[in-house]
Amino acid sequence: MNILLLGSGGREHAFAWKIVASPLCKKLYVAPGNAGTQQIAENAALNINDFDQVASFSLQHDINLIVVGPEEPLVRGIKDYFLSIPDLRHIPVIGPDKLGATLEGSKDFSKNFMLEHGIPTAKSATFVPSQITEAIAYVSQHSLPVVLKADGLAAGKGVLICQSHEEAAREIKSMLVDLKFGQASAKVVVEEFLQGIELSVFVVTDGKSYKILPEAKDYKRIGDGDTGLNTGGMGAVSPVVFATTDFLQKVEDRIIQPTIKGLRKAGMNYSGFIFIGLMNVNGDPYVIEYNVRMGDPETEVVLPRIKSDFVAMLQAVAHETLDQYALEIDEEAAATVVMVAGGYPENYDKGDVISGLEHINKALVFHAGTKRHENGHLLTNGGRVLTVTGKGKSIAEALEYAYAGVEKIQWKNVNYRKDIGKDLLSFNFNQ
Ligand code: AMP
Ligand code: GLY
Repeated sequence: MNILLLGSGGREHAFAWKIVASPLCKKLYVAPGNAGTQQIAENAALNINDFDQVASFSLQHDINLIVVGPEEPLVRGIKDYFLSIPDLRHIPVIGPDKLGATLEGSKDFSKNFMLEHGIPTAKSATFVPSQITEAIAYVSQHSLPVVLKADGLAAGKGVLICQSHEEAAREIKSMLVDLKFGQASAKVVVEEFLQGIELSVFVVTDGKSYKILPEAKDYKRIGDGDTGLNTGGMGAVSPVVFATTDFLQKVEDRIIQPTIKGLRKAGMNYSGFIFIGLMNVNGDPYVIEYNVRMGDPETEVVLPRIKSDFVAMLQAVAHETLDQYALEIDEEAAATVVMVAGGYPENYDKGDVISGLEHINKALVFHAGTKRHENGHLLTNGGRVLTVTGKGKSIAEALEYAYAGVEKIQWKNVNYRKDIGKDLLSFNFNQ
């Protein structure tokens, strides 16, 4: 089959790598892709939020399946668009429809969904600008810290954890009244702070049945020891030591099953991935957020642990036969380290020459912000540049291979965290 994959990050390179490894894939196009996807597939210079463009490309190239990497085309309704046009209806889009994507696109919507379906999450209240007086009064007597969340998509920046009532009152005003995060904060969810340790669980569903993919933990802050600014993710590991069989059973019973039932009940057309951000609070799981896509860099540790045919899984999702698909997971651990341009997540340079990739032997390198110059040089082309994944018998061994790979790669002002996974190597279950 001919497959079109939308996106351009490390996540999409990992998807592309799994897709082209399948005998079911005849031809893979990645739009817009990066220098890594260009090596294994054909890049297509499309604006993935321009659905007319995606549609005419799909018809011209006889595309049989569309896989959506990032959330934006889903939140904008790419699936509904393809279903609404008779000539396009035969091309399945992996992902939810617009209603399903609202689980990520609106925190208030996802809170109501969880409440309605009895899914454990932090207690919350939602406010709009006309309720500013009540909102300030509410946060001023809330337990500390108090969590403020912009309702809409805010490029991962819309969550503030306030340590004092004064800060909370100031921030809720700047979110609701001054629109600190634009229209995304024209509604704010005020939430109880959950004390615990975070992990991400990934589920793939055809809308009826589901499979649980390997769980992962990511490292969001730019600096070692979880310091500095938040980023899209600086590294990830899988499996997660504190995600015991007992804990994962609770996640399945209390969260995954009611979520899948809830999607159906709400009338969502959902055939794709669900990324559930969880807090482990004293051994009990609580949902922090839903994403309607895979995580980045989590995908770069989750996909290398899937042994069964990935395209067969996507086909089963599209054809609602996922219950017949045998998902096989590799027992080996995976760890990934994101190499970023110095200055990221603030200002950084692009166009620096990357060298050393030819010396990598025991690691997988997934490209994110890279491009190939006409002269053959590989150049940095974004803040997150490369993701280097190691696999091994343990997280420690996987990290060893990942870091051995990282150390062979250079460019001017390269930066990466030196402590990915280190907290888990000496994890104390009683902490
Ligand atoms: P979100 O965009 O909802 O994933 O939130 C971003 C980050 O803020 C999460 O990954 C958590 O680290 C943190 N966070 C969000 N909600 C809470 C909460 N209720 N309690 C504690 N931390 C939270
Ligand atoms: N790594 C977090 C995310 O993809 O949202």
